[in-house]
Amino acid sequence: MSSEIPTTDPEGLDGVRMTWNLWPRSKLESSKCVIPLAATISLIKPHPDIPRLPYAPLRCKTCSSILNPFSRVDFTANIWICPFCYQRNHFPPHYNAISETNLPGELYPHYTTVEYVNPIPHSNSNSFHQLTSNFTSPVFLFLLDTCIIQEEMEFVKSALRRAIGLLPDNALVGFVSFGTQVQVHELGFSDMSKVYVFRGSKEIPKEQVSEQLGLASGYQKGRVQGAAAAAFPGTAITRFLLPASDCEYTLNALLDELQSDQWPVLPGSRPARCTGVALSVAMGLLGACNPGTGARIIALIVSKDLSDPVRSHKDLDKDAAPYFKKAVKLYESLAKQLVNQGHVLDLFASALDQVGVAEMKVAVERTGGLVVLAESFGHSVFKDSFKRIFEDGEQSLGLCFNGTLEINCSKEIKIQGIIGPCTSLEKKGPSVADTVIGEGNTTTWKMCGLDKSTCLTVMFDLSSNDRSNTPGAVNPQLYLQFLTSYQGSDGQSVLRVTTVTRRWVDSSVSSEPSLTSILELVQGFDQETAAVVMARYASLKMETEETFDATRWLDRLLIRLCSKFGDYRKDDPSSFTLNPSFSLFPQFMFNLRRSQFLQVFNNSPDETAYFRMMLNRENISNAAVMIQPSLISYSFNSLPAPALLDVASIAADRILLLDSYFSVVIFHGMTIAQWRNLGYQNQPEHQAFAQVLEAPHDDAEMIVRERFPVPRLVVCDQHGSQGRFLLAKLNPSATYNNAHEMTTGSDVIFTDDVSLQVFFEHLQRLAVQS
Ligand SMILES: *[C@@H]1O[C@H](CO)[C@@H](O)[C@H](O)[C@H]1NC(C)=O
Ligand SMILES: *[C@@H]1O[C@H](CO)[C@@H](O)[C@H](O)[C@H]1NC(C)=O
Ligand SMILES: *[C@@H]1O[C@H](CO)[C@@H](O)[C@H](O)[C@H]1NC(C)=O
Ligand SMILES: *[C@@H]1O[C@H](CO)[C@@H](O)[C@H](O)[C@H]1NC(C)=O
Ligand SMILES: *[C@@H]1O[C@H](CO)[C@@H](O)[C@H](O)[C@H]1NC(C)=O
Ligand SMILES: [Zn+2]
Repeated sequence: MSSEIPTTDPEGLDGVRMTWNLWPRSKLESSKCVIPLAATISLIKPHPDIPRLPYAPLRCKTCSSILNPFSRVDFTANIWICPFCYQRNHFPPHYNAISETNLPGELYPHYTTVEYVNPIPHSNSNSFHQLTSNFTSPVFLFLLDTCIIQEEMEFVKSALRRAIGLLPDNALVGFVSFGTQVQVHELGFSDMSKVYVFRGSKEIPKEQVSEQLGLASGYQKGRVQGAAAAAFPGTAITRFLLPASDCEYTLNALLDELQSDQWPVLPGSRPARCTGVALSVAMGLLGACNPGTGARIIALIVSKDLSDPVRSHKDLDKDAAPYFKKAVKLYESLAKQLVNQGHVLDLFASALDQVGVAEMKVAVERTGGLVVLAESFGHSVFKDSFKRIFEDGEQSLGLCFNGTLEINCSKEIKIQGIIGPCTSLEKKGPSVADTVIGEGNTTTWKMCGLDKSTCLTVMFDLSSNDRSNTPGAVNPQLYLQFLTSYQGSDGQSVLRVTTVTRRWVDSSVSSEPSLTSILELVQGFDQETAAVVMARYASLKMETEETFDATRWLDRLLIRLCSKFGDYRKDDPSSFTLNPSFSLFPQFMFNLRRSQFLQVFNNSPDETAYFRMMLNRENISNAAVMIQPSLISYSFNSLPAPALLDVASIAADRILLLDSYFSVVIFHGMTIAQWRNLGYQNQPEHQAFAQVLEAPHDDAEMIVRERFPVPRLVVCDQHGSQGRFLLAKLNPSATYNNAHEMTTGSDVIFTDDVSLQVFFEHLQRLAVQS
């Protein structure tokens, strides 16, 4: 607890990072700090040092926060004092043995994160309720778009076959396909395929779905026996959801026969599809499962019409995409129902335009679903990512379900909301702020699906009330407690409790803010986290506020930040310097301005929605790479080393490895490429060259292997057409305006964008202005 500032592992045991690690005392002071108070938390990131406690937690009787290392304990009186509300709580009798030298796990000073696990309840085979609650098998309902060219159909079939082979035997599987109609396949019959057909042209209420499928209560039992029948006794759903081991044969036979949509098509146009209807049918089917069971709809969807003109952001702005808003509304209501059922929507889309990811984003994000957008179902971005969902062991994504997050905080702190994959449960409490950012109006959120890498951003505000006569007003520390309950992939219920503390900084003790207090705030600034939080916040505002100008907004914030925290003489730009804890931030903002998150017109609305969903759910290091890619240089006489994200880093005798999260680029300098083409690497006397050539491939492979979704790997040469994947990300220090100044061998970027140098000059001039 002594080090408040992140060091080597910036997330540590707690998985928490904050924009400010020392907090200003008042709302006014906080607003002067420009960058909002925010914390990001990697909710269930595994860590070897997190203890698992096999008993129930102790809660404060007043505020229900959980006993933690920051509670003051009086061992003689057997009392603990809650750091949130200062309530004195008696320990229950089974804690009688505790002492300074005999602490329970949750009081160990370094166990600021602990997990409470409850054993899975034992079944009582006579009780229906017991039987159903004993049931923890994951449910995978595949939803396949069949308006698809034959080639893509073959790709997706082989991906599905592979997936079914990887599923654990107890996993339940269902299958729905849709073209112009929605077809629910009954898997309970292996000798004869039976299909229920729904018209795709109009919305179908949930009740009607279960009625038509014979799932409404009172319907006669299905004719299926075995494990599935035991899992859902008395329901007919066993006709549609079967253990993978029982239906593998049927499913494979079904896939063999499945054709692209055969409905008659008007010349020149492909059939309209019914993604929304298909989803509501799938959801109706899962509605027959218990709420909170780990059920996910895995939707595989393709581009509507390859010949359609690309729908652009301009179209959406002008409302020229008339169905966009209506579709978003539909998916919002589907999202609400899915959250009520506790089920997840995953989206795998092929082709980059017109799939409808932008519309479906709300349903994926609010249920905590996965999303992958690939050029084709034959591309490794899809194939390898899809496989990862079903993999076990080291490669497993650690898919968990039925998650709930509660946050408790010190009285002065208010929660504005969360940006990331979750839904507000609208549970009001004293720490709910008046203003809402993202999923707000609550202290409790639902995550139907969550996994090892799920990271949320909590936006805070400070109370404007005078706190001088509340208890604890003089406490120099603030506290936050995150309670995440979820069901692990093994079905085990876990409650993870993370309690963190930070110090308040009193910057307004005198009327003139003291220099020392500003210096303290500076020390606590986490610029990487701040950059990511600003990217998420700006993206949210772009989506929700019409005519929001993100570039101007960020520029103004950056100038204000530099005016407040920079060192300079008024009106003397050359005197301007920034403390090291701020010095990387302007470059982050420079790259954010140029990134896919702000320059949306370079991409389709679907791509933008996809990029933003990933930005909002990944941890800080990964999200930072999306904003500001990392660049590593490989050459003969030195070890691989980070290189400036600048066109000047290109050299004929170098290989560059760019990681921009969604793609990983290996870029060979001209000379390297020539030698490679001549096959030098195969000659024994050129071992060193072979090694230089190999190293970036090994490193790229490591990135690709660990990441989900699997990034696109681009291997290219200087002056080759694929080189644009690198050039687009580099600072255009050399343009046609100043090409003559450049050293030979480097490249020139043809652009009118301002360079980082010009950006800095403007920034310094504006920051020092009186
Ligand atoms: C209940 O769970 C136990 C332990 O996981 C398992 O052995 C048993 O088969 C389950 N019962 C049913 C009816 O699924
Ligand atoms: C889901 O989570 C809620 C809240 O934590 C809990 O009450 C419920 O029993 C869970 N449902 C299942 C099926 O585990
Ligand atoms: C802590 O959380 C519980 C449940 O959300 C709420 O009832 C209580 O008021 C909170 N207490 C504080 C101090 O935030
Ligand atoms: C928050 O709750 C208030 C009333 O409780 C409601 O009027 C408001 O619309 C809600 N805001 C959001 C963003 O949900
Ligand atoms: C962020 O996530 C990646 C995996 O997606 C992981 O390898 C990395 O260690 C995480 N970073 C931190 C700081 O936890
Ligand atoms: Zn309390």
